[in-house]
Formats: sequence, structure tokens, C-alpha cells
Amino acid sequence: MFPETFVEKHLAVSKFDGVVFDPYCGRGTTIFESLIRERESAGCDVHAVAYCVAAAKSDPPAHSDVLERLSNLERESRSYTAAEDDHELAEFFQVCFARPTYYQVRFLRERLAWRTDRTDRFVAALCLGALHGESHRSPNYFSNRMPRTISTKPAYSVRWWREHGCEPPAREVFSILRRMNDYRFRTRPPDARGEVALADARDAASSFPHLAEKVTDVITSPPYIDTTNYREDQWLRLWFLGEEATTRHRSGDGRHCNLERYKSFLTESWAGIAPLLAPEVRIVVRIGGRRLAFDEARTALWDSLESGTKRCVELADSGVSSLVGRSQANAFRGARPSPTVEHDFCFLLR
Ligand SMILES: C[S@@+](CC[C@H](N)C(=O)[O-])C[C@H]1O[C@@H](n2cnc3c(N)ncnc32)[C@H](O)[C@@H]1O
Repeated sequence: MFPETFVEKHLAVSKFDGVVFDPYCGRGTTIFESLIRERESAGCDVHAVAYCVAAAKSDPPAHSDVLERLSNLERESRSYTAAEDDHELAEFFQVCFARPTYYQVRFLRERLAWRTDRTDRFVAALCLGALHGESHRSPNYFSNRMPRTISTKPAYSVRWWREHGCEPPAREVFSILRRMNDYRFRTRPPDARGEVALADARDAASSFPHLAEKVTDVITSPPYIDTTNYREDQWLRLWFLGEEATTRHRSGDGRHCNLERYKSFLTESWAGIAPLLAPEVRIVVRIGGRRLAFDEARTALWDSLESGTKRCVELADSGVSSLVGRSQANAFRGARPSPTVEHDFCFLLR
């Protein structure tokens, strides 16, 4: 996630007031911060977890609707019997969750209509936030001790828990969800609603035909090159959403490793949002990678913007770079500090 202040800073200096769009919206930081500042906003992401969280934040139900839904679900869950466990993951689930917790998780996994129902999507997003984390420090996680930011691999997790004598905590899922719901509504959500699509940036325009030529600000961060694989790193949350949960690295599974192919991907993404862009647009991009030099990043963005949008592109500021610090996930793995570098650029398109 990029920080809220990143979006705040760029909205404050923009002279435009059209729609703010994020084609790789992740957890929806751009959309949510824009709504707080009373700007119309929308975005998309291909990742189900990102979509669920971003859409829940941008278009929340009423607090009371969530409470009512939780009461009904809790009542139904008492008569739920889980089907046989998937053989490959059975051992992992036995050590990850206490049995009653696991059955509640399985029940919600089967029952929540997160794609189509706003209240269910919000409950699913609460579950995704509580599904795993540092449960030895907080009573609000369902799982055995795990990083919050990434789902560690099943075999590695089981080994780690056994070596460290970690038992799954007895957690009451519905009580945690009620607490998290109260916490989320402590600050009033923005009155304006944002739109989020579960879609590829390369097809973004077809998800938002009503926004044609209305976008004046793009504030975004494409998937980083040579770093994470979102599908693999979030496999347990994807499992919860009933999506394909890839727990092993495979070639061609979405990680960007080749700079030339990455540039083509960026070009196709800009082409995908081109029909949404107003005659003048400000495009702010945070781009990163393990071996992505500043000049290389600027050229890749500049060239891809020109060929993808067929517009005249100029650099609005000279850009800045920063080194990404030690992440929570790496600390858990005992890895050395991540060498990932981030570069920020702002372009003007006419
Ligand atoms: C660096 S993250 C963006 C994080 C976001 N700025 C936030 O604050 O949460 C990049 C995002 O791009 C998404 N992504 C990867 N390929 C995509 C594609 N083809 N179309 C749309 N989104 C994509 C990933 O799922 C990930 O959420």
C-alpha cells in the first residue's frame, strides 16, 4: 500500500477536479482518500482480495446492516457441518486454526456473497483483515501466529509452528467481526461512494463506460518488477474468497521479471484506460522493483504512456526515489532488508 499522505499530497496540488482513477487500485488507498476529499473516484484490480477490500472501503453498508447480517450468519453457523477437508491443506488448517474457529471460517467462506452483495463484501473484507496475523500480540486474528501482510506457505508454516511450539488460539470469529465492525465505523465513512471493478487494467475502459473522458487525475502504483507475486503471497486470503489459491511459484503466474515485457504490460494498461482520460490529465505513478534504476523507470513510464495513450506526455516534476525498509513479512522469514527501490513520477498528458 502506498501511504494516505502520498495521495493527499498529490490531490492537494492538482488543479483538476474530475474523476480520480487508479487502474491498479490494490486496497483502494487512492479511491478512499479521494472520496474523503470529496472527489469522484474509481479504480480496478485483478486481485480478488484487493477488489474485496477496496470495494468494501469505497462503498460500505450501514453499521447496523453489518450487525444484523452477523447475527443471522452466527445463528446459521450453529447448524453448519463442514465437508471433508482438502487433503493437501488438511494438515495446515489443523495447526493454523483451532477447530471451532476453523468451522466458522469455513462457514463464512461458503456463505458470503462478496461479489454481489455490499454487506457480505464488507463482512468478507473484515474476515480478510482478521484471517491471519500476529495473534500472539493481538486477540483480533483468527489464525496461529503468522505475518499479517503475506500468507506464508503451508509446509513452511506448519514446520515453523511446530519448531516454535505455537498452538492455534481459540478465537470466536463472530465476536472479533463485531469488534472490527465497531472499530471501522468509529470514524464516519465519506458520504460519496467510489466504484471498484474486479478487472484487468488493460480492460479498464470497458468496466467504466460512463467515465469516458472524465478522468483528470490518475494516482497509481503498478505491480512492482522483480518483487512480489500477489497471488502466491496472498494464497490464504484467496482461498477464503474461494479463488484459486496458488501456494507454489509457477512461471507465467503474474510476477513481472522481464523489463521489456513489463514495458509492454504498462503500454497495454495505459491503452486500457486511455478512453477514460480527459483532454488534460495528471498521472502520478509510484513504481518499484529490486533492480529498477531511476532513469530506466522514468523512460519505461514515459515511453509506455506515449505509445499507450497516443498523447503528448511531459514530466511535471523530476521524480524522487526511495529505498523500501525492512518489511514485516521479511522480518518473519528472517530475511535481510528488502533492496526494493521505489520511484515517484508525475506526468502531464495533453
Ligand atoms: C503496488 S500494488 C498497488 C497498491 C495500492 N496503491 C494500495 O495502496 O493498496 C499493485 C496492484 O496491482 C494489481 N495488479 C497486478 N496486475 C494487474 C492488472 N493487470 N490489472 C489491474 N491490477 C493489477 C495487484 O493485484 C496489486 O494490487
